[in-house]
Amino acid sequence: SGKPALLFPKLDSTHRYSKEHLQELQAGDVIVADSQSSGRGRHERVWLSPAGKNLYFNILYPLTGFAPKEYPQLMQITAISIAQIFRELGVNASVKWPNDILCDKKKVCGMVSEILTKDGEKFLTIGIGIDVNADESDFQEINRPVTSLMLLLGKRINREALLQKVLQKLKESFALTQKEGIRPWIDEWRKMDQFIGNAAKIVEGNAVIEGTILDINEDGSLLFCKKDGEIISRYTGDLEI
Ligand code: BTN
Repeated sequence: SGKPALLFPKLDSTHRYSKEHLQELQAGDVIVADSQSSGRGRHERVWLSPAGKNLYFNILYPLTGFAPKEYPQLMQITAISIAQIFRELGVNASVKWPNDILCDKKKVCGMVSEILTKDGEKFLTIGIGIDVNADESDFQEINRPVTSLMLLLGKRINREALLQKVLQKLKESFALTQKEGIRPWIDEWRKMDQFIGNAAKIVEGNAVIEGTILDINEDGSLLFCKKDGEIISRYTGDLEI
């Protein structure tokens, strides 16, 4: 929908807001916060969310017409779309399965999703965090490789303009997917995934599977060769490079 986003100077988390206020929200709603006091990533990891710098937002996407096995694909399509915008800005962005965006092997954008139900209708709330104008001092507490668009480009980026671009692009991407399905995105993913062929670890709770990333399958799932030669697929999970 073309309606303006719901803007908040501060929330505990846009993701949590979208869950707790689902009754008042509609398909297509976008919840944006300038800062979050309790931003969370996947696996309940803290997502640092200082004010005045970055983008923290959730999109409520209707799942009508999509099969459950297509839900992860919507996240992959979101990641590709945002990575494409980063490339247009001049950043050499790549995607890492299932849906991280990295540059120089450092993360610039992460996303998390959850399925919500309202009056029998399913929605996907997609929480997206983009490190836009964060600088090194913002990353001091993070012991993972991270960066921001500003650090990569050497100049500040206008957050409002970037958000508008992202929302416009996602609208187009989802419309294309409604028409043509996942197919057009698979080749796009392969072009943007610089980790295909790399050694990696699949982390599943306490278990770690070592091996090599072979490819993604035609449905977006991961194709992986274990150290012992066995070939496996995964629909969800975490990869460590
Ligand atoms: C990850 O890579 O672990 C996902 C990070 C998701 C962060 C975003 S910021 C907006 C939304 N609100 C949250 O609390 N988390 C997501």
